[in-house]
Amino acid sequence: MASFSAESYFATQAPPPDLEQLVDGVREFVDRHIQEGRRIVLVTSGGTTVPLELNVVRFLDNFSAGTRGATSAEYFLAQGYAVIFMHRQFSLQPFSRHYSHSTNPFLDFLEFEEGRDGSNGTPKINVSASQTTHLAQVLKAYKDVHTKGLLHTLTFVTINEYLYLLRSISKELNRAKRHALYYLAAAVSDFFLPTQKMSEHKIQSTKGSLIIEMDQVPKILRPLVDEWTPEAYIVSFKLETDQQLLIPKAHQALQRYGHHLVIGNELHRRKFEVVFVSPSKAKPGKFEENWIRLQDGQTEIEAGIVQQLVLRHTEWLEATTNAL
Ligand code: PMT
Repeated sequence: MASFSAESYFATQAPPPDLEQLVDGVREFVDRHIQEGRRIVLVTSGGTTVPLELNVVRFLDNFSAGTRGATSAEYFLAQGYAVIFMHRQFSLQPFSRHYSHSTNPFLDFLEFEEGRDGSNGTPKINVSASQTTHLAQVLKAYKDVHTKGLLHTLTFVTINEYLYLLRSISKELNRAKRHALYYLAAAVSDFFLPTQKMSEHKIQSTKGSLIIEMDQVPKILRPLVDEWTPEAYIVSFKLETDQQLLIPKAHQALQRYGHHLVIGNELHRRKFEVVFVSPSKAKPGKFEENWIRLQDGQTEIEAGIVQQLVLRHTEWLEATTNAL
């Protein structure tokens, strides 16, 4: 298995064709919000795919629906942040997530009335009374955010698109300096197949079993923290299925990359509790852990996560401003 550094990855894997155009949109968004003095958060969300063929028929994927990212983006907007929402195509998005086709099908909330005399036969569509209040709240927040230009959305599908987008966005967001926050909630593949090793056409089944050796995706947190956006407040996530590994793995990530915070979550408990792991202020060289749990009356743990994060970003901004 070959091991790619970030540098060798970008030197050997081609960028997505529309990258420049996507970056132009980000540049305009970032500059506008810097001028208006607003903090900007990059939320990554959903899972990356790993294509197995150049003319892709098959790919590896992962479970993430993008709930964490889409929900958190709404809470960041409510806290006054401008949000760059970089998500897997067709995963959940802020606002529309409330009416996802699988959990809350939108058409079930609508009532249909045949056209009557005097209406030229035009039918009427009403929102059912039980849903009107909630829909009105969601719709108002959605319209406000779009009227004020506070949300910029970009999509990726493959691990390659994710890596190129993240690198390009972070170079633009670097201009926001310490007002930039990174919230890396996407589920990023650790292994990939370089284009040089991919079959051009659909892999044939005539050979019987299929053995594929994948290469390791470079750990992108290192250049992100050291080179691309060294002044920002960076939060990564750690997903484990073994609860015992959460805290040691979070320590390891902080030691390796030197960023600000790891949010640990165990697959099955992720909607009820997460752990914030960060370098200890009181004991240099050590780490501290704070658990955030879904409170009575709360329906979404992201409310508590984002509230705590905004407090930390504010404290850090104040502390680093005073230190200048
Ligand atoms: O979408 P949901 O269903 O709501 O699920 C949310 C979630 C569980 C996916 C989310 O809360 C979460 O934990 N996301 C991170 C999952 C993940 O990729 O964990 P990891 O252990 O593979 O990576 C840890 C960190 O390293 C990530 O922040 C990632 O940005 C970073 N990374 C990963 C791979 C890589 N090559 N380079 C990296 O820098």
